[in-house]
Amino acid sequence: MQNIKIQTVAESRATAVDFDNIPLGRTFTDHMFICQYEDGQWQDPEIRPLELIPTHPAAMALHYGQAIFEGMKATVDASGNPMLFRAYDNAARLNFSAARMGMPDFPEELFVEGLKQLVALESSWIPPQEGSALYLRPFMYADEPFIGMRAATSYKFIIIASPAGPFFSKRIRLYAENQYIRAAQGGTGEAKAAGNYAAAIRPTELAKAKGYDQVLWLDAEHHEYIQEVGTMNIFFKIDGHFVTPTLDGAVLDGITRRSVMTLLEDAGYKVEQRRISIKELAKAATEGRLEEAFGTGTAVGIAYIEAIGWGDEVIPLGDSSPVAEQINATLNGIKTGRLEDDHNWMLTV
Ligand SMILES: Cc1ncc(COP(=O)(O)O)c(C=O)c1O
Repeated sequence: MQNIKIQTVAESRATAVDFDNIPLGRTFTDHMFICQYEDGQWQDPEIRPLELIPTHPAAMALHYGQAIFEGMKATVDASGNPMLFRAYDNAARLNFSAARMGMPDFPEELFVEGLKQLVALESSWIPPQEGSALYLRPFMYADEPFIGMRAATSYKFIIIASPAGPFFSKRIRLYAENQYIRAAQGGTGEAKAAGNYAAAIRPTELAKAKGYDQVLWLDAEHHEYIQEVGTMNIFFKIDGHFVTPTLDGAVLDGITRRSVMTLLEDAGYKVEQRRISIKELAKAATEGRLEEAFGTGTAVGIAYIEAIGWGDEVIPLGDSSPVAEQINATLNGIKTGRLEDDHNWMLTV
């Protein structure tokens, strides 16, 4: 693997940050990892002070959208040792997205080593409170200046980091979208492609204007089968066991989703991955068989769902999620080293 050249700032800005009051997504650490793809290979990787990047106005990502990203978190244990959660899973998913978008693979060992060295250097930026973390954003985009529709020949892979305070998640309200869609089979929904999020912005704003927090996406063909939420996968507890929509080629394979399925099974619950329609959900709710509903994703961990708006109906989803709360506590406990990491998810930096 290539050596990572490191150039550090003279003085860290971390001392000036109020870690009890971190504006979400707006504070960035001192350094970034950066690597350029040129002449058919990734060139020398570097960690260097965070700075603006000169961009040619014809950079292909700006025109044709070859841009993908990942989202993950570094936490610290009680002794202050930084740790990463399932970093190799994110490396693999980045390359899955890259393949779908006609972009080059990024070497997984270098992805993880870059994260480790960046996190080690920025360890004073990791908020220590349980539920807080250093959010890490690896991303890749086409920076070749070219007007024309083909795969670019030059790319940048960058990792930036942003401290994130604890998410005091209030119960959220979702709007089941029956006009716009997020993804169809054969599209890019199972890739973490920037364009997926661009297309979700307007429907999300419309849902917010109706008093909802996020969009619940339904399938492209029937507008009936539940896919996922904003930036989360979704789970329901019906008749004592858990159901999550199957990965049908249009749903993102969430790493929190995988982890929650494992933890639910560890706790003795059956988890079904299958098609579930909004009609089935509404019926289960009416009949009192829908016991819990929650979203899962890196940003929030687990978000409890209060209600789903669907046409003129509002499907009430109850006001407690005891199993989801227990799973969330387990997940946070593993991430801060308080609980045994039975599945070898944590990687010490
Ligand atoms: C569309 C979408 N679904 C689900 C997720 C949850 O994935 P993960 O648990 O890997 O964060 C995310 C966030 O990455 C997302 O953007």
